[in-house]
Amino acid sequence: MKIDILTIFPEFFTEVFDFGIIRRAKQAGIVEINIYDLRSFTTDKHRTTDDRPFGGGDGMVLKAEPIFRAIEQILGTGEREKYPDRTRVVLLTPQGRVFRQGVAGELADEAHHIIMICGRYEGVDERVNEALVTDELSIGDYVLSGGEPAAIVITDAVVRLLPNALGSETSAVNDSFTQNLLDCPHYTQPRDFRGMTVPDILLSGNHAEIEKWRQQKALEKTLKIRPELLNKENG
Ligand code: 6GU
Repeated sequence: MKIDILTIFPEFFTEVFDFGIIRRAKQAGIVEINIYDLRSFTTDKHRTTDDRPFGGGDGMVLKAEPIFRAIEQILGTGEREKYPDRTRVVLLTPQGRVFRQGVAGELADEAHHIIMICGRYEGVDERVNEALVTDELSIGDYVLSGGEPAAIVITDAVVRLLPNALGSETSAVNDSFTQNLLDCPHYTQPRDFRGMTVPDILLSGNHAEIEKWRQQKALEKTLKIRPELLNKENG
């Protein structure tokens, strides 16, 4: 998979993808991640990437031109209808569809090339949406000053689902949310930490009973913290 991130703050991404599973996936050739500075696609003397909104109002709006030029350079076309197969151009905005585990799975399964445009919260010229964007995504119901943290979140969640990204010792099937449940509690050494002990069942060696306990705890946790997850529609 190739992931290209368009941003006015390229330094934001220095090192962020150089740890753990993402680093290993890059090294193994499972994913290639490129950061593009939108400023380098400007043509005017002052290299402006944003301007004041028509109609007035607060804040600045990201200009269409640098984004179109970036997409045209990367994909060879600025027309959504002419994109290669399995290409997604994602606008990161609080106005988007909410990114959940199911969306991560959909992108990991279906996309070969994802281009993420990091919006700023005041907005992006709507012509970008009209001509270029295939998906608008938000990472939750709160406002960030820009889409950059969302690009990191989405990249992480998608890359770890790619085939062979997780080592053979781990698997995504038991992740939180995969079965619309939060994860169960976990313990490691020592058995007695400052008087707090590990549940006996986990030391029993009875794998069937341990699995039952884990399912029960996951259900209890979900009912207590996120009961709405148990409605199928929220998956
Ligand atoms: Cl993708 N962008 C911004 N600016 N704020 C957000 C968001 C994205 N997702 C949640 N809040």
